[in-house]
Amino acid sequence: MTEVLDTSAASIARAAECLRQGGLVAFPTETVYGLGVNALDAAAVKRLFAVKGRPPNDPLIVHVLSFEAVAELLAEDLDAGPHSRARLLAQRFWPGPLTLVLPKSSRVPAEVTAGLATVAVRSPAHPVAAALLEAAGIPVAAPSANLFSRPSPTRAEHVLHDLDGGIDFIIDGGGTGLGVESTVLDLTEGDPTVLRPGAVTVEMLREWLPMVRVGTAGGDRPGTDEGAQRSPGMLTKHYAPRAPMVLFEGPPEAALDALVDRARTAAASGARVGVLVVREDVNAFGDFGVHLVEIGSTGDYASIAGRLYAALRQLDAAAVDVILARDLASDEGLGRAIRDRLHRAASEVVEVK
Ligand code: TXA
Ligand code: MG
Repeated sequence: MTEVLDTSAASIARAAECLRQGGLVAFPTETVYGLGVNALDAAAVKRLFAVKGRPPNDPLIVHVLSFEAVAELLAEDLDAGPHSRARLLAQRFWPGPLTLVLPKSSRVPAEVTAGLATVAVRSPAHPVAAALLEAAGIPVAAPSANLFSRPSPTRAEHVLHDLDGGIDFIIDGGGTGLGVESTVLDLTEGDPTVLRPGAVTVEMLREWLPMVRVGTAGGDRPGTDEGAQRSPGMLTKHYAPRAPMVLFEGPPEAALDALVDRARTAAASGARVGVLVVREDVNAFGDFGVHLVEIGSTGDYASIAGRLYAALRQLDAAAVDVILARDLASDEGLGRAIRDRLHRAASEVVEVK
């Protein structure tokens, strides 16, 4: 029932027609795979929520080709403030991994925005996503193409694993580059606020809008729940590995020592231990039996972001009893987004002094 398509023009034309008819199409973006649906078709949007098992209070991002295409989605009486900020940021960062939350027009169905008066919009920087939007000629609402509570998919195989049979097409564009979802920036009231950190970093945004704030659910204190009012669907826990994940926070050496101790004890008691490990730490595990999945070097956040979700899927597939990981030491740049995702996945955080 689900057909995997290549990225030829003919395939994209079929996928675009399917979207116009109310179908569900997974496609690659520069961040993760999205599951697309016609954003103006409320019935199709409802089907999408059902297929993903997504709670209806979690609003979707609407994908567009350019800032010009956003106009029909926004409130007619949009204040000059949010509008000029949105235009400035779109000029600087679109197409790209930046989602802007703005007051919506009545054309956007309540199903898309979970009943909120705002809509999230972004223009993806991936040739396949852009070609699909161009061919479809409609705004496309697209959450990440995973089952609810699974890691976002960074390869077509991940989408197939979660949604085979439930959706019409998957366009296989290979691995996505960035690996973590877009930055979500709320422009609706007060100072612009980062609701979810991503590859367009807080530092990059502040070069253009120095007053940008970071929402508490967005990374200043990752794992807390306080951004909830502003973004009702932004659950603290958005991916829960099958096995509980324990995150070790603190000075790198001390955190690693504590993690290795826990791994040794757990392995000795017969548990299957999985470790999300950075290259520098691999040797610390000697020869006791743990399942190591390497995610790159601590100096290279781009490679960690690119591999993080695939690594979590690998550990789930290995049916480990517990997953251990060391937190990054820094919120700088992409580090903030990676830490945010690690904290959302963790069920226990161990603070090491
Ligand atoms: O990179 C991405 O953003 C990917 C690709 C496919 O574009 N999409 C993605 O969608 O990550 P999803 O549905 O997994 O995450 C959407 C996020 C949620 O955290 C949601 O709460 C927030 O955007 N969001 C959507 N509409 C919102 C709104 N009106 N107000 C506040 N937050 C909103
Ligand atoms: Mg998601």
